[in-house]
Amino acid sequence: MPKTLTIIDNRTGKKYEIPVENDTIKAADLRQIKIRDDDFGMLSYDPALMNTAAVKSRITFIDGDKGILEYRGYPIEQLAENSTSYLEVAYLLINGELPNKQQLEAWRADIKRHTFIHENVKKLTEGFRYDAHPMGTFISTIAALTTFYPDAKEIFDPAMRLTQIHRLIGKATTIAAFSYCHSLGRPLVYPANELSYTGNFLNMMFKIGESRYDVDPVFEHALTVLFILHADHEQNCSTNVMRSIGSSHVDPYSAVAGAAAALWGPLHGGANEAVIRMLDEIGSVSNVSSIINDVKDGKRKLMGFGHRVYKNYDPRAKVIKKLADQVFAVTGRNRKLDIALELERIALEDEYFIKRKLYPNVDFYSGLIYETMGFRMNFFPVLFAIPRIAGWLAHWQEHILDLEQKITRPRQVYIGHRGKTWLPIDKR
Ligand code: COA
Repeated sequence: MPKTLTIIDNRTGKKYEIPVENDTIKAADLRQIKIRDDDFGMLSYDPALMNTAAVKSRITFIDGDKGILEYRGYPIEQLAENSTSYLEVAYLLINGELPNKQQLEAWRADIKRHTFIHENVKKLTEGFRYDAHPMGTFISTIAALTTFYPDAKEIFDPAMRLTQIHRLIGKATTIAAFSYCHSLGRPLVYPANELSYTGNFLNMMFKIGESRYDVDPVFEHALTVLFILHADHEQNCSTNVMRSIGSSHVDPYSAVAGAAAALWGPLHGGANEAVIRMLDEIGSVSNVSSIINDVKDGKRKLMGFGHRVYKNYDPRAKVIKKLADQVFAVTGRNRKLDIALELERIALEDEYFIKRKLYPNVDFYSGLIYETMGFRMNFFPVLFAIPRIAGWLAHWQEHILDLEQKITRPRQVYIGHRGKTWLPIDKR
């Protein structure tokens, strides 16, 4: 079977043979399609990049129709079930393979060496307004790290790159916890490196002053699984931003800050909060069917349902649903869970949702777990950003080392005016 695509340009009658590789044509091959020799050549127009592959990647595989998600070839269900720590999965994403025992120990030690932040970074987090949104503080503080580590601009030095990766993963939880405690006026708690990555984070979040705080192993496990599930999701909006900023060869702190800013938007990292607000508004199981009717009448959307890529049950949502049961066994049942379960039950049986392939996504249950564990809603995007840093860094590294890549610079279809004549202000 010839691996080409034949295009006939009906404007000129000319025929073109375009090579096909991985079921894909190179957009640049369209440029030979011209009417006149001095034409720029054919472009493909793709708002929101819905059908454009801009990278070749070996990090994360998604089959949205079948509901499959794999990191470096390992199904997400296996990683969530068997990985003993988030750092193990972060290693997998960044280095391409699961670590052996020695590699994991060394990786852990390297990251824990970087959990403390410079006292001036701490002062910076304290300088934000008393009620600053923790995500705003988080993004700004990550960006500020570039001023503390000027060596980070040496992005083609593998050792330097690795040091920044350790620093970013190590400091993310500390900066996040400081942002949260500051927004509540709580004393800041320094890292306790004898604890696990998520155990230390919970300790910094919920320990108050010198009083004893024992990390609940169920919460620690739940957070580990949630971090693993959120660690990467191939070319989503924030990862695309990470790659795009990184393509200018700026340092990784600036790029991660930009990616985190993209994540903050309600269309990306904000949906789990929207689910909680929706469940609060519904109020009781008896109101569920009228909400479903409103959704079917096009009056509103069911938050936490539907996905651009998954046209099947989001594999992460399945894991999270099981996890919710474990957490609620400790905390007592969250009243909103009953509403969520009823919503899911009715929706999955309803023709409207079946026809449109609308299933619960990762956000449908994650917010419920976070809320039950004691996190405030404005912290949900930070909880998403912390584990995604490993994914962003894996993509950043892959991107800057990819010889086919250059600085990202899309084209446009210009539809504005041309050649106008400037007029003095009193003549306009
Ligand atoms: N509730 C009700 N109907 C929904 C829906 C939802 N959550 N999500 C999609 N639909 C409907 C659309 O109205 C559309 O119906 P139509 O064909 O009659 O016009 C159809 O399903 C296709 O939806 P579309 O908007 O084209 O899908 P998309 O890929 O552009 O959007 C989302 C994907 C995630 C933005 C969208 O499903 C959504 O807004 N979900 C709720 C927010 C959310 O949970 N986001 C987190 C994603 S992880």
